[in-house]
Formats: sequence, structure tokens, C-alpha cells
Amino acid sequence: MFVLPLAPDLRLRLPARRDAERLYAMIDADREHLRARLGWVDGTRGPEDVRAFLEGSLARFASGRGFDALLEADGAPVGMVGVHDVQPSPARAAIGYWIARARQGEGLVTRAVAGLLPHLFGAMGFERVEIRCAPTNARSRAVPQRLGFTHEGTLRHVERIGDRDHDQAVYGLLRDEWRAGRDRGAEEGPP
Ligand SMILES: CC(C)(COP(=O)(O)OP(=O)(O)OC[C@H]1O[C@@H](n2cnc3c(N)ncnc32)[C@H](O)[C@@H]1OP(=O)(O)O)[C@@H](O)C(=O)NCCC(=O)NCCS
Repeated sequence: MFVLPLAPDLRLRLPARRDAERLYAMIDADREHLRARLGWVDGTRGPEDVRAFLEGSLARFASGRGFDALLEADGAPVGMVGVHDVQPSPARAAIGYWIARARQGEGLVTRAVAGLLPHLFGAMGFERVEIRCAPTNARSRAVPQRLGFTHEGTLRHVERIGDRDHDQAVYGLLRDEWRAGRDRGAEEGPP
């Protein structure tokens, strides 16, 4: 089982096929919250769709092409954080996320992404990490903004959600920038 502990109350866990029912229940319960932002929600109609997604995702993990992990707070799944679009030379990838509506606003996603960065820039050796969000998705944009990513620009009509094409604001963080931010934080000490 792949588990990345992030804090005593927070961890990322690679889901197994047996998580499909529970994950589907979470998605279905928050369908309206998620479908406006995530193109795959409308096509997720039952646990079998989640099982197929998990199988593809586990194959991607096995071949070093990223992963989709359950975000667990105090032992309970509350959302997902994924690493996608893994590219070589320079090694880079994109992070995606969603969280149950009832658990928004607690800082769990920001803390999860912050905790994942040492793994991506360290063990996985990425030079660059990217987060893409719809320009209108203020909550999502706030995550990379809080973590010191640079808004590098906006790509037009690169994502299909429902029957509309959407733009994406691109946020990037380089390994040296992440290191400098981490060292500054260590010098300043806890708030
Ligand atoms: C995008 C999404 C994941 C953001 O969730 P979120 O709960 O707002 O993000 P966080 O977990 O980082 O929480 C941030 C909030 O916690 C607060 N917070 C509390 N403790 C915090 C901490 N230790 N660190 C950071 N923020 C903290 C922040 O002030 C912020 O509060 P605010 O909403 O009042 O401004 C969520 O809205 C979502 O799932 N949306 C639907 C799917 C989606 O859009 N996915 C992204 C597609 S690009």
C-alpha cells in the first residue's frame, strides 16, 4: 500500500479497487459541487466507472506516470490529490485535486499539496510542478497562490467541461523556487 504521511492528521493513500464503492458514493454525494469544475464527473455513473478509473490510475502509477491518491483526514477519505501529465527532460508534472464540499475551507488541500511538494521535487526529482485551474475557480487558484507558485499565463479553450470549452490559468513552481521558499520559512520559524 502506497501511503504518504503528510502530518499526524493527514495522509495520501493510493486507492485499491475495493475503494471504488466508497469513492463513488463521495463523488455522487457531491456531484453538483464537482461537475462544474471537473470534466470526468458526468461520465462517472456508477462504482464500475470508478473501478475502471482506478485500474487505469494504478497502471499509470506502476509505470511511473503519476498517481491519484485519496486524501485522508483523521483516517477518513475526504477527497483526492493526483499527479498527472508526467513529462521527462526537464522532469515535470501537474497536480490536480478535489475535496468534499463539507470539508472545504479547512486548508486540507493546501496542506496536502504543500506536503506533496518535497516528495515531487525530492524523491521524484521534478524540476517543475504545475497547477492548472479555471480562471473563475477562485478557491482552486488560491491553493497555488498560497504556496508561492507563479501565475504564468492563461491558456484559452484547452479543457472541455460539459458542453463548453474552458480556459486554464497555469501556475508553475520550479525546484529552486520551492527550496528558497522552504529555507525562508525555516529561517522565519513557525508563525
Ligand atoms: C478547489 C478546492 C479543492 C479548494 O478547496 P479549499 O477547501 O478551498 O482549499 P483548502 O483546503 O486549501 O482550504 C483553504 C481554506 O482553508 C483556510 N485554511 C485554514 N487553515 C489553513 C492552513 N493551515 N493552510 C491553508 N489554508 C488554511 C484558508 O484560509 C481557506 O479559507 P477560505 O476558503 O475561507 O479562504 C475545492 O473548492 C474543490 O474541491 N472544488 C471542486 C473541484 C475543483 O475545483 N478542483 C480543482 C480543479 S482545478
